[in-house]
Amino acid sequence: MKDILSAIQPTGDMHFGNYFGAVKNWVDLQDKYSCAFGVVDYHAITMPTNYQKLRNNTWELIFNLLAVGVNAENLFIQSLIPEHTELSWILSCFSSYGQMTRMTQFKDKSAKSKEETKDSFISAGLFNYPILQSADILLYRPKFVPVGKDQEQHLELTRNIAQRFNSLVGKEYFRLPEILFTETPKIRSTANPEIKMSKSAGEKHYISVFAEESRLRKQIRSAVTDTGRTNDGDMSQGVKNLFELLKASGQTEAYKSLLQDFENSSLKYVDLKDAVADGLLKMTRAFIEKRKEIAANKKNVKNQIKQSSWEIRKIAQETIKNVKDLTGLINVRF
Ligand code: TRP
Repeated sequence: MKDILSAIQPTGDMHFGNYFGAVKNWVDLQDKYSCAFGVVDYHAITMPTNYQKLRNNTWELIFNLLAVGVNAENLFIQSLIPEHTELSWILSCFSSYGQMTRMTQFKDKSAKSKEETKDSFISAGLFNYPILQSADILLYRPKFVPVGKDQEQHLELTRNIAQRFNSLVGKEYFRLPEILFTETPKIRSTANPEIKMSKSAGEKHYISVFAEESRLRKQIRSAVTDTGRTNDGDMSQGVKNLFELLKASGQTEAYKSLLQDFENSSLKYVDLKDAVADGLLKMTRAFIEKRKEIAANKKNVKNQIKQSSWEIRKIAQETIKNVKDLTGLINVRF
């Protein structure tokens, strides 16, 4: 069993929104708890995607996670562990159809997909996605699942499925996982601070944590600072975002002193921007180095992750064996 289970979908590059919003938290949690973190490629095919690119995206995300400090032995790739799909079927038979129809992420995603693609096709996989997520979690019987507020409904479903399973098979087998909500900085696009930093909004709306110095400086220098001002003296969304980045990168002294300047109305935005760029670069230097090492060593790293997936799978296999026993399904060994 693991204390902590979380997962992330494979999508190419890693930006500061991903890093400060979730991944950094994973890195910190590793010191205190036994953790498993999945790259969930089965989830990535719930909507039409670039299938030729998916495998590469999965590996890229693995490399990026390793480069920023996630330990290899805590990482697994979902599609290397067939028990995820196996448990997903079993759990679907303990999931309430009515509750599934109330999942807001499904409604949002399907509406958005219809709008963007002008195609009314929505896969049953997208509908079943929260059950697969429940399987991802319950396979490892964790105490905590660190996720954002947007995942609360899925966590509630997971707990309901676990409860119904326990009650129908007559054994308190699954412990009910709790959401571990950590207040993390929500980073906004520097090009448009009204929206969050994201890849889907386009190139200029995210900054890669592996960006070269010149590109990063350029992006921070051109950050929008003068929109969203409500009252005179209030901090605009763009300036707030820069302060957020400064604090998140660990530059507490610079943060305090520049905030003081802001309050005295003596802050020059260019000084703030330079401090942010310096702070981020100081932090990412080690990431970029590690990322290069990994790039020169891809084959070994892939093998290492296959190995760690294999180790982590042992827990999943044990869970499936127990679940089959409890539900009257046939196990190979008795
Ligand atoms: N649905 C999650 C998201 O969109 C990703 C996810 C899949 C996940 N399986 C999980 C998160 C298991 C936590 C635990 O962010």
